Order: sequence, then structure tokens, then C-alpha cells
Amino acid sequence: MVVLLMAICSCLVTCGALLRWNGMRYRKKGLPPGTMGWPVFGETTEFLKQGPGFMKNKKHRYGSLFKSHILGCPTVVCMDPELNRFILVNEGKGFIPGYPQSMLDILGRSNIAAVHGSPHKNMRSAMLGLVSPPMIRDQLLPKIDEFMRSYVDNWNGRVVDIQEKTKEMALMSALKQIAGIEAGPASEALKTEIFKLVLGTLSLPINFPGTNYHQGLKARRKVVSMLQDIINQRRISTCSYNDMLDSLLKIDDKSKAKLDDKQIIDLIIALVYSGYETVSTTSMMAVKYLHDHPKVLEEVRNEHLRIEKSKLHGDAINWNNYKSMKFTRAVILETLRMATVVNGVLRKTTKDVEVNGFTIPKGWRIYVYTREINYDPCMYQEPLTFNPWRWLHNKLDSHHHFMLFGGGSRMCPGKELGTAEIAIFLHYFVTRYRWDEVGGAHILKFPRVHAPNGLYIHVWDN
Ligand code: HEM
Repeated sequence: MVVLLMAICSCLVTCGALLRWNGMRYRKKGLPPGTMGWPVFGETTEFLKQGPGFMKNKKHRYGSLFKSHILGCPTVVCMDPELNRFILVNEGKGFIPGYPQSMLDILGRSNIAAVHGSPHKNMRSAMLGLVSPPMIRDQLLPKIDEFMRSYVDNWNGRVVDIQEKTKEMALMSALKQIAGIEAGPASEALKTEIFKLVLGTLSLPINFPGTNYHQGLKARRKVVSMLQDIINQRRISTCSYNDMLDSLLKIDDKSKAKLDDKQIIDLIIALVYSGYETVSTTSMMAVKYLHDHPKVLEEVRNEHLRIEKSKLHGDAINWNNYKSMKFTRAVILETLRMATVVNGVLRKTTKDVEVNGFTIPKGWRIYVYTREINYDPCMYQEPLTFNPWRWLHNKLDSHHHFMLFGGGSRMCPGKELGTAEIAIFLHYFVTRYRWDEVGGAHILKFPRVHAPNGLYIHVWDN
């Protein structure tokens, strides 16, 4: 008994000493308040376990700007909307993207999230050229329409996992737009590797056979080689393909920097990666919210039936049809808000920077945590109610604290494209089908929105 007590006591003393020592290591003058947790692990376990509760407790104790040690790095968490905006619009003052090494290794050195300054400007301008409203109207919308209408074919009477379906939908739709890749052996091979690549970016950077990171790096090598083969074929072909890859290979505008093959490949990987989880999760959650809110579903369905009636049978959704989907757009924004598809974005300091009277040392991460804004009653009345109507007249998406798509020089370039994809998927889904959930769905909202056991729905013809 005494031995046990002594063991417990010495354990407590050692833990206390370790916590204090780790706190002292980071006790620099001018740092925001907060605690650093354990050496190496910091407070990652509490952060992942408690999620938003961890953030709320810390905010309650230390205010909207506090230090911690999460996901392997000393980090300052910022929960103040005004300050978040300041950080996002001031990349040039020392706040560059701060995504984890595993992500950058797998997404590539030329990846848009890995570069800043003029290389970022070049990549971004190439990206914006591919997904601009005129490109969506003239080139992408017909492809998205063709893909979505056939993708939801033959779901009548079936039980489908809408999580799996929307994931596949987001990926296959992107591959069609990027390089005209249709369902078949080539797309299956790419799909398998891209799924592994995505998983690898969300893992610890432990390069050992069997780890997700190792698999992710291997998958990257395979994806790069497949894309390089496609590029080589395109270079010797005399055909015109009318897709994103074609536009990238034919940049002849002197005002734009020409990208080499490595940059083109990393840009394509960024396009697929950035749109994949966001578009799929938002589509899945929109289906869930529509199921749970019959009045909203009725209004959405009426909007789409009106569009369908105004067209000849089989006509594709055009730009004007898409732009008239005002209520659907509101549903998508409300889904992004309520489900908090994006909790925040990461930045890293390139030098010691002063923020609100505190100093954030060079090389620290900043977690620009935007989740709280989504539930701010000053911005969204009754914030816990799913109410798409709120977006119709209040110009909430022009509010300077609107950050569902980020902000500043990194504001999502694919927001219009992503919205169009989800809207057209919903068009074909709600006009053709009714559905019911099978069993209770368990949906985790942190650190990412995810149904661990799938989200099963039974689908019938409308
Ligand atoms: C509902 C859908 C989407 C949401 C909620 C969303 C959200 C975001 C957010 C919050 C950021 C800012 C990241 C940061 O500041 O570090 C971002 C950046 C980005 N998004 Fe999206 N996104 C969506 C769809 C898409 C799609 C479809 C594409 C593909 C065209 C895309 C491509 C990108 C890229 C390339 C960036 C990086 C921009 C840069 O670093 O300059 N996104 N997105």
C-alpha cells in the first residue's frame, strides 16, 4: 500500500515537473497567455478529444488569443473575428500558410498551400483562370451537368451510403473537369491512389511501411506518374480536349507565367484535394439537413421543379438556371455554417509579429479558428437553428466576418465551382428522388465532419 502511494506521489511530482518545465521553455516575454501541456505531445490529446469544448474553455480562461501546443507545434489560437480577418488579409506581414509537413510532403513542393509571394501569385492566377465564372458557364457547367445526371441514375429502391456516394461524386466530377477522365479502369486506379493520398495528408509524418503517411507518399508517386503519362500523351496529340489540363498546357497569354509539368501536376492535385472533402461533406450534410427539415426540402424541390419545367426534357442546366437557384445557394451556405465544414485555417509566422500587444515568435503556428463565428448570435440570429432563409436578404455573405471560404489573398478560388457542383447534384437528386434515413446516423463534427459508420439512406423515385 505504502509502495503504491509512493509510486503515485512520485508519478504526480514527475508529471508536475514535466508540465512546469515545458511551460518554462515557452515562457518568452510578450507571448499570449495559455499552457503548453506535455513535452512533445503538448495538449493535442485534450484538443482532439474535447474539440470545440477545448477551445471554449481556453477562451473562457485566457481570452480570444491564447498559446498552446497542438498537433506537434507551439501554436497561438486566435478566436477573435476581427483579428482573424487581419491575419488572413496580411500574409505579406509575416503570416504564411502553416499546414502540417505531412500535408506539404504529399501535396508537393509547388502546391499552392506550400508557396507564398510571387510563386503563390502565379499558381493562384493559373488556378483562377481555370475556375472563373466564364469558365464555369462555358466549359465546366455542361460537364458537371452531364456527370451529375448520370451519377444519380438508378438509385430507385436502393439503400446507399450517401457519405461514400458524395465522396465518389466529388472526386469523379473533378477528374472529368480536369482531364475528361470518365468512369473506367484509369479512373478507378486514380481514385484508389487519391483516397490513399488524402488519408496520408491527415496523418502523423511517420514514414514507416504500413503507416498512412507512408502509403500517402507512395500514392503521391503513383498519381504523379499517372498524371505525367496523361500530360505526355496530350503533348503529342493533335486533338483539342476542352478541359482544365488543355487550358494549362496551352497558356499562351504573355501576361501569365507558364507552368512547368511539375507545377501543373501539383496544381491538379491541389484542385482535386481542395474540392474533394469540402464538396463531398457539404453535399452529404445538405442531404442530411434537407431530410431533417421538410419545409426547407419542399422549398428547394419547388425551386428545382420550376427550373426543370422551364426547360425541354433533357436540356442541361445552364448558367442562368444555376444563378436562379437562390434558395439552394442559401441551403449550401447554411449547411456550411451549421455543419462547420471548415473549423479554421492554419498560418505560420515568418518573423516575430506583434498582434494585439502580444508577440508571436517566428516559426509558430497560428490557428485562425473561425468556427465560433458560425454560431455568433450577433451575426446569425438563433444561430443553432437551420434557417437558410437568413441568407436571402441580409447580405450575410458580404459581411467582413464571413469566412466560410477563408479570406484575404487565400480566399477559396473554387467557391463558385464548389457551389455549382453541390447545387447541380442537389438538382438531380431532389427532383428525381425522395429518401429516408436508415437507422440513426452518428455524425462527428470535429476535427472534421464525418459519419464513422456511413450515412445510409433509402431512396425512391419522386
Ligand atoms: C464548399 C466547398 C468549399 C469550401 C467550404 C472551401 C473552403 C476553403 C477555405 C476555407 C480556404 C482557405 C484556406 C486557407 O486560407 O488556408 C480554401 C482555399 C482553397 N480552395 Fe476551397 N473550398 C471549397 C471548394 C473548393 C473547390 C471546389 C476547389 C477547387 C477548385 C477549391 C480550391 C481551393 C484552393 C486551391 C485553395 C487554396 C487557395 C490559396 O492558397 O490561394 N475549393 N477553400
